[in-house]
Amino acid sequence: MLTRPDVAIVGAGPVGLAIAWRCATRGLRVAVHDPAPGSGASRVAAGMLAPVAEAYFGERELTGLLTASAARWPDFAAALAAATGREFGYRTDGTLVVGLTGDDLAEARRLWSYQQGLGLPISALRPSQLRDREPALTPRLRGGAVAPGDHQVDPRRLVDALRVAAERAGVTLVPGPVTRLAELAAPVVVVAAGCGAAALTGLPVRPVKGQVLRLRAPDHRPPGFRHVIRGYADGESVYLVPRDSGEVVVGATVEERADTEVTAGAVLRLLRAAVDLVPELAEYALVEATAGLRPGTPDNAPILGPLPGRPGVLAATGHHRHGIVLTPVTADLITDLIVTGEPDPLLTPFTADRFH
Ligand code: GLY
Repeated sequence: MLTRPDVAIVGAGPVGLAIAWRCATRGLRVAVHDPAPGSGASRVAAGMLAPVAEAYFGERELTGLLTASAARWPDFAAALAAATGREFGYRTDGTLVVGLTGDDLAEARRLWSYQQGLGLPISALRPSQLRDREPALTPRLRGGAVAPGDHQVDPRRLVDALRVAAERAGVTLVPGPVTRLAELAAPVVVVAAGCGAAALTGLPVRPVKGQVLRLRAPDHRPPGFRHVIRGYADGESVYLVPRDSGEVVVGATVEERADTEVTAGAVLRLLRAAVDLVPELAEYALVEATAGLRPGTPDNAPILGPLPGRPGVLAATGHHRHGIVLTPVTADLITDLIVTGEPDPLLTPFTADRFH
């Protein structure tokens, strides 16, 4: 156990562990505090790396950060694989956006037209082109688009790999909870505690509930489709993330609630939309239904960098729907800030002082 680390990190989710790993490889002594590593939002997350399909109206700065982080993913994944010898479900098959009815297609097209207007790589496909790529899609589809640069990773395996990488680099994992930052004897403290950041720092981070299902293909075969599918089906929005193991993650509700109860209505709506889009999913086993809490902020963007009036305390939280895709850029920006003392200009729109 370290007597006095250079950096104490609160939270052993992907963001906290990636910062720890990066800092340790730059020669810093690092301790990460978490009573249950990897048990927060990342345990529920589907792992879409989707800067294009998740570029929403009114979030231009955030879209820039998502794009910057997605561009770092190939090197980040290669470095993590080299450091650990682990595989963590990083796949680059691309994402199909699909609309079931005419209204669904109109809604999807409105968003992808906006994304195209930003210069993002997404192109319309006819129903026959969609089904050429994924014959498992229903023939009832009215149309859609492909975002070839939107990829995926398995967040649970990612956390396992990051933990191995961090420990191999000399990071100490401290299993106790942190209730006050003053408990931590380190010159730099990073709060990467997801929703828990609010109680520790007073930052405007609120829980946003997401209910998610996990299905499994019969006989543990790989699912009958390889792309991530983001669908609109009779007014429901759903995403389907296939994994080589046979798992398909079906998500997700977005609810302004702080409980983690799974409701029958949400399961019904998610399953109905999923089976409407990919009929073979009706034959899959339903193996898990969970709910997690995304750390949301008033502008849906993360809070990164120094906390005003709290010398030595840095925030790396508020990643809301984007914690997995934003892990590499968050780790790089926070680590560089700690090592050099110089904030990267990419941080400027995301610092906590925008809320003062
Ligand atoms: N990024 C997907 C979600 O938060 O549901």
